[in-house]
Amino acid sequence: MLHMTRVAELREDLAGLRSRGLRVALVPTMGNLHEGHLELVRLARQHAECVVCSIFVNPTQFGPGEDYASYPRTLARDAEMLRAEGVHALFAPGVEQMYPLGLAQATEVRVQGLADILCGAVRPGHFNGVATVVLRLLNMVMPQVAVFGQKDYQQQLIIRRLVADLNVPAEILTAPTSRESDGLARSSRNQYLTAEERTRAPALYAALQTLAAGLSASEDNAAALCAGARQHIQAAGLIPEYVELRDAATLAPASPGHRPLIALAAARLGRARLIDNLLIA
Ligand code: PAF
Repeated sequence: MLHMTRVAELREDLAGLRSRGLRVALVPTMGNLHEGHLELVRLARQHAECVVCSIFVNPTQFGPGEDYASYPRTLARDAEMLRAEGVHALFAPGVEQMYPLGLAQATEVRVQGLADILCGAVRPGHFNGVATVVLRLLNMVMPQVAVFGQKDYQQQLIIRRLVADLNVPAEILTAPTSRESDGLARSSRNQYLTAEERTRAPALYAALQTLAAGLSASEDNAAALCAGARQHIQAAGLIPEYVELRDAATLAPASPGHRPLIALAAARLGRARLIDNLLIA
């Protein structure tokens, strides 16, 4: 596996692959890899001969007081995991490669509307940072496909919108959420949980499952079901930020009987912020 840090060497290598007619897939990450990331890589490998995995802890998607400085950086271990998965290249640039004009002068991308609701309302500016760095990575790698996880449902919709609106010639694939055996969605930030908090964390997904079951019994009480899910989450000792039922394609509020729906929830638990979702087709 190649390990590159500079855009110029990445472009040179990718030009060679393209001249040989090989397809390239991009898996963007912030590192501290877990099984969920490896599932993204495995999906990418089904769609392209060469997988480029990026590891970049992107400063522009962290708000003031968030965990940018303390975000776990485990590059050597991550590289070993990617090598074992048959990844073609690890691209781990520094901030000066990703933002050559410096952060204050950097061009920013904003996907209007979608970026400002749900997680975007709780973390203002977060999705501008995500959209900006993902577009930069897509421009650097120019992959045929790029893979994201369904756990970050709003993120992958924003990236799909961005790619469609700006005519980026990459297909976006969304891999199913990777879960622990008790249902907790895998996330790099789960390691912030204490052992005791970890036992309570699956309540987030359980609340969404109960909500979905309630909806299949009756369409008319969606608001009450969301309120019930909030209570479920709260009773487990989490602090809910939102529980919402939305149109799965646009995240617009949905009327009774609407399909497909996405149930989305976010909650705080100790140092961790947990998000999850469940598609209701
Ligand atoms: O989902 C993530 O890990 C990040 O938001 C991403 C897509 C790598 C952009 O920094």
